[in-house]
Amino acid sequence: MCGIIGYVGKRKAAPIIFQGLKKLEYRGYDSAGIATLHDGEFFIKKDAGKIDDIHKRLNLTDLPGSIGIGHTRWATHGGVTKENAHPHTDCHGNIVLVHNGIIENYQELKRLLSGHDMRSETDTEIIAHLIGEEMKNGKDFVEATKSTLKKLEGQYALLILNKNDNRMIAARRKAPLLIGVGDGDYFPASDIPAFLDYTKNVIYLSDGDMAVIDGEMKFFNIDLNKEVQREISTIDWDPEQAKKGDFDHFMIKEIVEQNETIQRVIEQDDSFMLSIADEIKKHKNVILVGCGTAYYACLTGSYLFSKIANKYVIAVSGSEFSNFKGLLNEDTLIIAVSQSGETADTLEAIRAAKSVGGKVFSIVNVRGSSLDRESDESIYTKAGPEIGVVSTKAYTAQVAVLLLLAHAVVGKLEEGKNRLKNLHALVYNLTALSTRKYLRRLAEKLKDEEHIFTIGRGLMYPTALEAALKLKEVSYIHAEGFAGGDLKHGSIALIEKGTPTIVFVTKDTERDVISNAMEIKSRGGYIIGVGPENNEVFDHFIKVPEVGFADPITHIIPMQILGYQLAVLRGCDPDKPRNLAKSVVVK
Ligand code: AGP
Repeated sequence: MCGIIGYVGKRKAAPIIFQGLKKLEYRGYDSAGIATLHDGEFFIKKDAGKIDDIHKRLNLTDLPGSIGIGHTRWATHGGVTKENAHPHTDCHGNIVLVHNGIIENYQELKRLLSGHDMRSETDTEIIAHLIGEEMKNGKDFVEATKSTLKKLEGQYALLILNKNDNRMIAARRKAPLLIGVGDGDYFPASDIPAFLDYTKNVIYLSDGDMAVIDGEMKFFNIDLNKEVQREISTIDWDPEQAKKGDFDHFMIKEIVEQNETIQRVIEQDDSFMLSIADEIKKHKNVILVGCGTAYYACLTGSYLFSKIANKYVIAVSGSEFSNFKGLLNEDTLIIAVSQSGETADTLEAIRAAKSVGGKVFSIVNVRGSSLDRESDESIYTKAGPEIGVVSTKAYTAQVAVLLLLAHAVVGKLEEGKNRLKNLHALVYNLTALSTRKYLRRLAEKLKDEEHIFTIGRGLMYPTALEAALKLKEVSYIHAEGFAGGDLKHGSIALIEKGTPTIVFVTKDTERDVISNAMEIKSRGGYIIGVGPENNEVFDHFIKVPEVGFADPITHIIPMQILGYQLAVLRGCDPDKPRNLAKSVVVK
């Protein structure tokens, strides 16, 4: 996944684009570049590396012109090199563009371009050559772009400039692209934070849309093959939410924000939540689908529906969903869970369900995202922008929504809301500075470990899986989660003297999971207990109050903080872990 931003207006483009790229860096950060157009000439600077480092070397803001495009990359096709960094141009330097997504038929299209001088290994570059080729055959910029877009298969969000034309073209298919609308200036970009300092007015492009931007905007949809109108919406975030404030990193800021974001979940419209619950009751097949952390929220949801509503709901990982297509019919309800609403595997799952007449609801954080717009109904997690690449406040908000829905299915929505209300003071304490300092001392003990295991039973099993993911994806320590009862079926062979194992304890699973802890302890394991009461088997204890069905929310918070502290102690960047991207828009 990459981040793109453009600017068309009265101000100098390069500084605006540079600041926008900084806000989009969480979407990809292995290379970056900016191109501006001034007096019929392109001015391009790009390189491999993080944006700030490139800026120090090349001074990215020192480019003339009031129209430009920029890109920050998460490599998919072609290594991390200057040549593969965007923007890319056609042979003659008449077309320059930036792209987020993957052109799945690029090799086939490349064969149409024999004789063209390809300078990169990317799929993106061929788009510039195709447009140049179409213009050489007599089409104007807009028509050449239209016919090129019709040849592309896969996902694209594109910003395109032509040296002999003061208009910018913005086009999208299955990759996010929205246009911030200022006072006579326009900010096409991958995500809201890129332009939130300038405007809260936004136009969400639809798949197949192509916007032509100069002093005004015109919209064309290549699927409908006609001009279309697109409305301006107002963003309900404020710019401060997309800034770090007094925190060193977005990740810790967003962890601490959870004592507010979980409460915001309660502000759902009751009649709307009850209507969703009715649909869940009515459908025999209910499938929760999500990826990574969102999948673990789905797994937690399947336990909550079983325990609270006695309703069978399965959780399927988005990337594995195609194996369950046979289950899909008009009696299937898919509930997709996603922070970004742009995860390719999750989107593919809901598109498969809709293709057979299935109903699709989503639990999503980003309004206007592809998932939001393609769902029959969306429940917003209202967590605000989650800039840190690893999901923290979005996860607990997802679990909170699923907890409410499970209660609503059996007519206990108020009970579910009260359960969340009662978390306010507890989450405040769990994220307080004193708790963070206590966990830093544990992180100092664990920071040189090669392996950390996590175990839990019942609702603590998906919690153990999510805890392991949090620890490993941000600190790069290998961490693995297990159902408490599963460890002795093989994996216990890995336990050696001092092997740290985090044991999640709740009242309903205490007896069995403590005996699992003893099995590990008797083989030399170092036991870290997370739960309401200390126990002689624990070598280290993290107190987390018992809150019943909301345990998955409270028990994960110390693990989010532990992961953050481990990352900082190990010199990792908690906001931009290596190899990761905030939203995986490729399959
Ligand atoms: C989050 O910590 C992970 N980096 C990742 O697994 C993420 O949850 C997953 O990619 C799904 O993203 P989404 O919620 O935006 O769909």
